[in-house]
Amino acid sequence: MSLKPDSILSLEGGLVTLEQATLLLRNNEVVGIPTETVYGLAARAQSDVAVRKVFDVKGRPPDNPLIVHVHSLDHARDYGILGEVELLLAHRFWPGPLTLVVPHRGNLPRSVTAGLDTVALRMPQHMLTLDLIAKVGEALVAPSANPSGRPSPTTAVHVLEDYHRRIPVLDGGPCTIGVESTVIRIVHGSCMILRPGAVTADDIASLGVHVDTEPMTEGHAAHSPGTRYRHYAPTARVLLFDNVQDLHHAVSDTKRQVVLSVSQLPYTSWRELSAATLYAELRNADALAMEEILVLCDGFVQRDAALMDRLQRASWSGNRGQDHD
Ligand code: TXA
Ligand code: MG
Repeated sequence: MSLKPDSILSLEGGLVTLEQATLLLRNNEVVGIPTETVYGLAARAQSDVAVRKVFDVKGRPPDNPLIVHVHSLDHARDYGILGEVELLLAHRFWPGPLTLVVPHRGNLPRSVTAGLDTVALRMPQHMLTLDLIAKVGEALVAPSANPSGRPSPTTAVHVLEDYHRRIPVLDGGPCTIGVESTVIRIVHGSCMILRPGAVTADDIASLGVHVDTEPMTEGHAAHSPGTRYRHYAPTARVLLFDNVQDLHHAVSDTKRQVVLSVSQLPYTSWRELSAATLYAELRNADALAMEEILVLCDGFVQRDAALMDRLQRASWSGNRGQDHD
């Protein structure tokens, strides 16, 4: 007897076992899955029907392609053509938070790649999800599981809340990294970072790979459709400070504020700032109807390109109302 998705939902209240998740995915359903970075909204990469459900559920524009999650390097080579540099990087950083954009082999639905001639490939570092991919027997697309306009989820509960328990979720515990993977593309032997993440430019350069350190330009944006879309900015205003004095001047008794910094500051509203907890803090601030989130971006934070990128995107207020990633 095969379990019907509806009965799984009513039995489990949204959380599913590895076996149930496998069955649901094979039936072209969408399942929330854990990774070391953020939770993903998974579907069979080879099924156009399943992939389209991901775009529908998430409310994602169809011109923003998805990452294909594989369980091994050989599995990645079924879908994309990895050159010498990509192989070096995959050997060093997989499984892990690095996504490689490479020419594809033409065996995935156009909906996955948004009609581009490249595919984004990643082998996540989470045992449950690597098992799941092997059990389903095929790669899984998995954009970050936030509905467009929400911060990426870093716990199974975030995913359940975001979709009002209508999407089944495989609980793999809180994400250890907390921000999305580094997305790169090798062009003429040189590495372009399309999205910063836990694998840093220095990590890549330490392997002798030249890293293009030009700031993001229109050219980069053309290479990475996701950079055209704004990320989540909470309802609370996010204000960034590079020194304690300026932050101190902005602290007010009359406003509902949260202060975020790496080292403890003497405010009752203080919360620890880290990549692992940033998205959860943004969610909390909105749940508590905070007016302002004051963030100390000291030298330590400024050297963390992934954290700085997400903070800057969260602090953009000028482009509210545009499409979301
Ligand atoms: O950590 C992660 O990467 C998470 C977890 C779930 O694995 N996934 C994730 O997916 O962040 P998503 O869809 O939210 O972000 C994928 C990014 C987007 O910016 C997209 O534009 C870019 O990767 N991307 C996907 N395919 C691409 C391609 N062929 N060329 C350039 N950029 C691509
Ligand atoms: Mg995303």
